[in-house]
Amino acid sequence: MQVIHTIAELRDLLSAYRHPAVVPTMGNLHAGHLALVRQAKPLGDVTVSTIFVNRLQFAPHEDFDTYPRTLDADCEQLEAAGCDLVFAPKETEMYPQPQSFKVHPPTELADILEGHFRPGFFIGVCTVVLKLLSLTQARTALFGKKDYQQLMVIRNMVKQFAMPINIVGGETQRSDDGLALSSRNGYLSPAEREQAVQLSATLKTVAEALRANAALGAADIARLESQAMQTLSHAGWRPDYVAVRRQADLQAPHPGDAMVVLAAARLGATRLIDNLEV
Ligand code: PAF
Repeated sequence: MQVIHTIAELRDLLSAYRHPAVVPTMGNLHAGHLALVRQAKPLGDVTVSTIFVNRLQFAPHEDFDTYPRTLDADCEQLEAAGCDLVFAPKETEMYPQPQSFKVHPPTELADILEGHFRPGFFIGVCTVVLKLLSLTQARTALFGKKDYQQLMVIRNMVKQFAMPINIVGGETQRSDDGLALSSRNGYLSPAEREQAVQLSATLKTVAEALRANAALGAADIARLESQAMQTLSHAGWRPDYVAVRRQADLQAPHPGDAMVVLAAARLGATRLIDNLEV
């Protein structure tokens, strides 16, 4: 496995391949990322992972400075998972000048849910992903379903820009107690880590209620959402949202739509997100 830091080296190495399968990451890898790399392997003629903590997608008060940077450990794990090439650019390589051209995803998709609570987040994500997909000449790119809205925004961006890239979602990987794997789980204290299972458990309760009664109307769904928010609040979380949406476009579901329950909540200083398809 080769680890490279410059665009010039990347272009040079990629010239030997026709179908890069790419897993973009911000590093501090866990089993969820590694599952994406293994999933990528048969989908291209070279498996590339990118590691770049993208300042553009962090608000000033967020954890850009403290986001864990663990390049050596990440590379060991990537090599074991079968990755061929790691592109880990410095910030000056990705953004030699301030990135003033940016991708603005549509309001109805990107200013709801995560985008509502993290204004500008999807502008930062789309801008860096467009750049990374272009640099790596990706023909397939894989993203985890834990970031459900991100996956949807990227799918739509690639489609609307007619980029010849197959976007593949990877299933959320979970700990034995149900907690979705995330680099931010590392911020949790031991006591918070024990409590963290409540987020996926709450989603499960909502998903089971939806499955048990296919005829639920908008008012019933709103009640389920607010009960779930209360459950989390009573357990000491600060929920941003628990929302039942349709899978197709993350808008409010109509009867018969395939649904997804999404949540974001803070436990202490750590903000976690999760979702379950119904
Ligand atoms: O999901 C992530 O790790 C990031 O948002 C991504 C897609 C690598 C863009 O920086």
